[in-house]
Amino acid sequence: MKRRSFLLAAIGVAAGAWWLRPADRGRGGHDGYFAGLSEALKREGLARPTLVVDLDRLDANIAATTRAMKPREFRVVAKSLPAAALLDYVMQRAGTRRLMVFHQPFLNAVAAAHPGTDLLLGKPMPAAAAHRFYEHLQPGDFDPTRQVQWLIDSPERLRQYRELAEALDTKLTINVEIDVGLRRGGMKQPADLVRLLAVIDQDPRLRFGGLMGYDAHAALPETLNLRAREFEQVEARYRGFLQAWREHAGGRGEEELVLNAAGSPTYRMWDGIDGLANELAVGSGLVKPLDFDIDTLTEHVPALFIGSPVLKVEEGLELPAIDLGPLHQLWDPNRARTFFVYGGYWKAEPVSPRGLATHPVYGRSTNQEMLNGSRQVELAVDDTVFFRPTQSEFVMLQFGPIAAVRAGRVVDFWEPLPQIA
Ligand SMILES: Cc1ncc(COP(=O)(O)O)c(C=O)c1O
Repeated sequence: MKRRSFLLAAIGVAAGAWWLRPADRGRGGHDGYFAGLSEALKREGLARPTLVVDLDRLDANIAATTRAMKPREFRVVAKSLPAAALLDYVMQRAGTRRLMVFHQPFLNAVAAAHPGTDLLLGKPMPAAAAHRFYEHLQPGDFDPTRQVQWLIDSPERLRQYRELAEALDTKLTINVEIDVGLRRGGMKQPADLVRLLAVIDQDPRLRFGGLMGYDAHAALPETLNLRAREFEQVEARYRGFLQAWREHAGGRGEEELVLNAAGSPTYRMWDGIDGLANELAVGSGLVKPLDFDIDTLTEHVPALFIGSPVLKVEEGLELPAIDLGPLHQLWDPNRARTFFVYGGYWKAEPVSPRGLATHPVYGRSTNQEMLNGSRQVELAVDDTVFFRPTQSEFVMLQFGPIAAVRAGRVVDFWEPLPQIA
């Protein structure tokens, strides 16, 4: 009797486990969109990992952003779209000359490539990096005194920038980082800001340019009203800092200040807020990497992909030293075939053909990455696999020239921004 119940229980567990098997995620080959992208890359004869920006989709994202941002100004986040020609394209379409920059070599490159822009630092640069920017600044129309706002997050950094202004015998415009709830540094209280303002006032080489309050943390889940409650706090904190400046400065010259806020996850939350920030920063949302599949960006469409050729196709799945034979696919139909692609291990996930995944045990490779898929996945040697980057800023620097695609054709190649200057 005992043995019978044990047997029944074992059969039950086995049936349950069988029922829990992963579903077959394969859906054939590329859909029309990715088949078109694949053709576009094949026509170029590149046959290597290539980063693609879809200009039609980018246009849609720019239009959605500018529409939702009005009447505020649009500051384009350069680190998230790191190619000079791409930045130019976005600025022209969006009707803005404002960029937010986060890296000294990019600052030099942007000043050289776009002498008409207005630049705000998105993080406080070490004073030595700011000094290097001046050393490498090419002579031309770009006037850093008027066109760069250096971000200052502490009294100590302000002291260093005063010394820098003196050493260079130049005027610097200072923008102050305020903590509106992100807890990533900057002024914690309005009184801290007032103390910095007093130091700036005393130095004829320094000019106060405005405030930067980044609020990405406020894109919280909507459950328990968390998001609305935190955004109210963001607004109240920003208002507190601005009020402190008004009282300090007697309200003169407010229209000239750069009052920056937001990022892709939060820019839409400023819709309907009166006054305060007069410009909003957006970068990643214009190409919408995977990490930006969030409910505040549902109007945006993915516009950034990696296309990489398939080098090898094998039936089944073999792991070195452990021969499980057909056991893999017995449990998981998505392990029925093996593909090796050119390159890999990017901050990206395979998206087309559907149903491809890396193996949890085999290991990752930047040289030739292994992917598995079911028998439903249609993919042959020399076909292209498409990945969607999880973020844009680092991934876009890894491939050399970026293929700009419009209506299913590569129309240009854009060099990423340089990493040295
Ligand atoms: C200060 C600041 N503003 C805005 C952004 C938003 O950039 P994105 O729109 O690319 O998310 C960032 C991103 O890190 C940031 O640090």
